[in-house]
Amino acid sequence: MKVDGKNTRTIWVESDGANNATCVGVIDQTLLPHRFATIKLKTLEDAVRAIQSMQVRGAPLIGAAAAYGVWLALRTDASDENLERAYTALLATRPTAINLQWALDQMLAAVRNRPRAERVATAFKRAGEIAEEDIAINQAIGRHGLKLIEAIAARKKGERVNVLTHCNAGWLATVDWGTATAPIYLAHDKGVAVHVFADETRPRNQGASLTAWELGHHGVPHTVIPDNTGGHLMQHGLVDLVIVGTDRVTAQGDVCNKIGTYLKALAAHDNRVPFYVALPSPTIDFSVSDGLSEIPIEQRSPDEVATVTGKTKDGRIETVQVVPDGSPVANYGFDVTPARLVTGLITERGVIAATREALAAAFPERAKLAI
Ligand code: MRU
Repeated sequence: MKVDGKNTRTIWVESDGANNATCVGVIDQTLLPHRFATIKLKTLEDAVRAIQSMQVRGAPLIGAAAAYGVWLALRTDASDENLERAYTALLATRPTAINLQWALDQMLAAVRNRPRAERVATAFKRAGEIAEEDIAINQAIGRHGLKLIEAIAARKKGERVNVLTHCNAGWLATVDWGTATAPIYLAHDKGVAVHVFADETRPRNQGASLTAWELGHHGVPHTVIPDNTGGHLMQHGLVDLVIVGTDRVTAQGDVCNKIGTYLKALAAHDNRVPFYVALPSPTIDFSVSDGLSEIPIEQRSPDEVATVTGKTKDGRIETVQVVPDGSPVANYGFDVTPARLVTGLITERGVIAATREALAAAFPERAKLAI
């Protein structure tokens, strides 16, 4: 998508003058929305640090960054031991988003049985394919989701369609386009009047700092709302549909996403507002069924809850404490929305029910592998 009129992706390969790939470039998302800066990942350790510190984040982007992390590792040592070391180090960075393991398994499958001399080139190629596939998948999600928005726009006779989203499942969370935002960008580009309520998404505020930033740069009308506002808006008919992303969808259609998503699903259910989840197929984990008991929920540093970072009036970026000294805090990163609260899953193969049968029918090749 566009940053200051220039097409930009979240991850790319940097080359020297002779067109040899030298390293991987990414946007440092911890500096947004106040500063747009990029960083270079040159080693496995750089990739691990970027994912852990959330300079790159969002399930599909974590997967693509990890794939390139394997390439970076093999450049210094293409042995089995180093491949194993890279897999383990990258897998440990974030526990909830299954795209990470999916991408690492893809890399392992591509590289493992190749002679050492071919491993670096093979890893580079497969990582590039994973990144390109992500873009194509998100565009397909966009096309399917667009129909939902257009149907509501037709019913409202062209009056603007209000979409509520949580966290950032936008292009910054993927290689490009985003998942939840892909239908929104397509609708906006097509001239459908669409407006987004972006939950701020404490504690890290990905909605306020990232979703608002990217929608603003693409010219999509939006309003940032505190996390507790969605229910009130739905009660007053101000939300036409909810579209969120996800970090893992189980075989039975339970949806794990950023903490607070479940509460939005409950409010949507109570107010008969359609609640859609946009997901690329690598986000489906057919090896687990019950999201509540089987998905590991990341718990991050208490500092993320105890403090807030922002821009002062004179333009400095500062972090301030918002809880009393010594008050204990809890920082669960994700929650699980049971399938029964999900109106539909927007996938690259169409909008399907959040059920075991629909998921297995839409992705039989993935479902079969997990048996
Ligand atoms: O902790 P984050 O910022 O990586 O969490 C991001 C989300 O929860 C997104 O909704 C999810 O990864 C889907 S991204 C297309």
